[in-house]
Amino acid sequence: MPRRKLILDVDTGTDDAVAIMLAALRPDLELIACTTVNGNCVLERTTDNTLRTLDHIGRGDIPVYAGLSRPIARLDFPTPRGERDPGVHFVEMPLAKAKSKAQATDAVEFLIETYRNATDEISLVPVGPLSNVASALALFPRLVEFVPEVIIMGGGHDVANVTPAAEFNFWADPEAAALVLAAGFRNLTLVPLDATHKAVISFEQCSALRASGRPAAEAAAVFIEKRIQGYRAYQRLDNHDAAPVHDALCVAALLQPDIVETCRHFVAVETAGALTIGRSVIDTSFRSGKAANARVAFNADTARFGRFVLETLMA
Ligand code: BDR
Ligand code: CA
Repeated sequence: MPRRKLILDVDTGTDDAVAIMLAALRPDLELIACTTVNGNCVLERTTDNTLRTLDHIGRGDIPVYAGLSRPIARLDFPTPRGERDPGVHFVEMPLAKAKSKAQATDAVEFLIETYRNATDEISLVPVGPLSNVASALALFPRLVEFVPEVIIMGGGHDVANVTPAAEFNFWADPEAAALVLAAGFRNLTLVPLDATHKAVISFEQCSALRASGRPAAEAAAVFIEKRIQGYRAYQRLDNHDAAPVHDALCVAALLQPDIVETCRHFVAVETAGALTIGRSVIDTSFRSGKAANARVAFNADTARFGRFVLETLMA
């Protein structure tokens, strides 16, 4: 069976780590590389957390390229989320120290050269602030012609998680998110909080993951339990016994597109509003007169997502 190739752009992060393990372990996927970015933690930590995660599951062979250590335009960028709000993320993943090392090439150069020279289709799945992708586009605008498919975790229509208006990945580098949405990718799926809040894993499912004894499943249980406790403390959800694993939904949607319900819309990102910086402005009422630039996921199949995560990590 031909495997779908992908690059994951991550700011690892508990949910990024689950996404990485899914992408690295699915027999129907080939994770070409992870690129890392400032976000949930500072770049050194997101890179180290990525290396630890891959080493933990015996996939230290997958190359990791470090990218931007700050947003592309903001001088006053905020403290990374994991250090500001340690409820949902570990600053340092509770895994053995990484033996593998990041590549010498930086992530932006890697993205440009890989896509420029690609003979096979490689999906791009960014699940952190979009600083690396925006920088690659700034240097090489024709990147949009070389990327067959982009699946982005970011934004929120009815749900926000960092200000009353904005989701973290877009808020952490709003100019980057605005550039990427406006760049002209021909096949872009946006997976905002509206969908990822349906992609929840429960304490009970964590118990099943742990009981399997598989390294990836045990690690996922630790990460997701941390998330459930963090949501209980900082961001109450209707179901107190489960938490969204946002980034993992993008990997599931790559293989099973109908795991999310999507609708085509024009999407832009606010970069100037005093109260709304980083907000994804999704033209659900078609008032902008602009052509749709994204397939936006507003819902996800919770049961299917749970099966996808458990089956993959417990195999
Ligand atoms: C996004 O923010 C990060 O904390 C998560 O890893 C996810 O990518 C959700 O808003
Ligand atoms: Ca992330």
